[in-house]
Amino acid sequence: MDDKALTIEFVRVTEHAAISVARFIGRGDEKAADRAAVESMRDSLNYIDIDGAIVIGEGERDEAPMLYIGEKVGNGKGQKVDIAVDPLEGTTLAATSAPNAIAVMAIGDHGNFLHAPDTYMQKIAVGPKAKGAIDINLSPTENLHRIADALNRYVEDLTVIILNRERHKTLIEEVRKAGARIRLIQDGDIAGAIATAKEDSGIDVLMGIGGAPEGVLGAAALRCVGGDMQGRLAFRNEDEKERALKMGIKDLNKVYGIQELAAGDVIFVATGVTNGDYLKGVEFFHGGAKTYSVVMRSKTGTIRYIEAFHYFNYKDIK
Ligand code: FBP
Repeated sequence: MDDKALTIEFVRVTEHAAISVARFIGRGDEKAADRAAVESMRDSLNYIDIDGAIVIGEGERDEAPMLYIGEKVGNGKGQKVDIAVDPLEGTTLAATSAPNAIAVMAIGDHGNFLHAPDTYMQKIAVGPKAKGAIDINLSPTENLHRIADALNRYVEDLTVIILNRERHKTLIEEVRKAGARIRLIQDGDIAGAIATAKEDSGIDVLMGIGGAPEGVLGAAALRCVGGDMQGRLAFRNEDEKERALKMGIKDLNKVYGIQELAAGDVIFVATGVTNGDYLKGVEFFHGGAKTYSVVMRSKTGTIRYIEAFHYFNYKDIK
């Protein structure tokens, strides 16, 4: 992918999505917040010189009017790329004005992202220093020991980020028994995966079951920063298995390595919606708004933080 010139174009997309959602922060209306993000993201994607296809999106065509899996985006004039989007990661976080809601997108060469069905995924993710130490087939305790060895620390010094869900009761008990700390989060395991790679986040590993689409986006981000991740689809029912088979998944129990989740050259872009550990949220000022974004490229490992001032007199941002 000849992606250098495109990176700033993609940042604009998540910036605009974040500003559109920001109008709905704390208003308790998840649907309106999500709709604002989706509409904005789709509008701005269509200005870009790409022949893009959504491979991770808002769902299948029958359930999503926009940014559905398979939808063509871009003006069709440029290179052929696949796009994974989560226009509003942390819908409830935005609706309740809680931290860590972000607008997210990853771009790769055609065929390079796992076409993850809209189901769950069991995940384990770590930063660059623990790359190669994880094995999702081993127990959480064994993984914690391997990660501690790789980081040259004690298990007691590790912090695991886990979604606060009933399904994680046993996992939480085991991690605590092993001696590690847990940061429980209400939502947002893409940000959780990224946090493992950020030196000063205090987070060493993400464990547990979250959305499969979020798994691909988390993997794309970790590819750019040299982290590691494994995932295995976790189906809720037979219907989800059927849909996965139809989408071309052959082995329903397969463990996907980070390269199988997001292969080749990848760009990852995110803009903060609400204030978070990783990015600040949208700040409105008289006549405009300020956004905080990150854009990363796997090809070069460059990580750019972009603070942007948007003046509404000059452009139409809803
Ligand atoms: P949404 O933005 O779609 O609400 O996703 C938030 C999230 O917390 C993800 O980060 C996570 O992967 C998923 O939901 C977990 O799903 P569930 O809330 O069903 O446990």
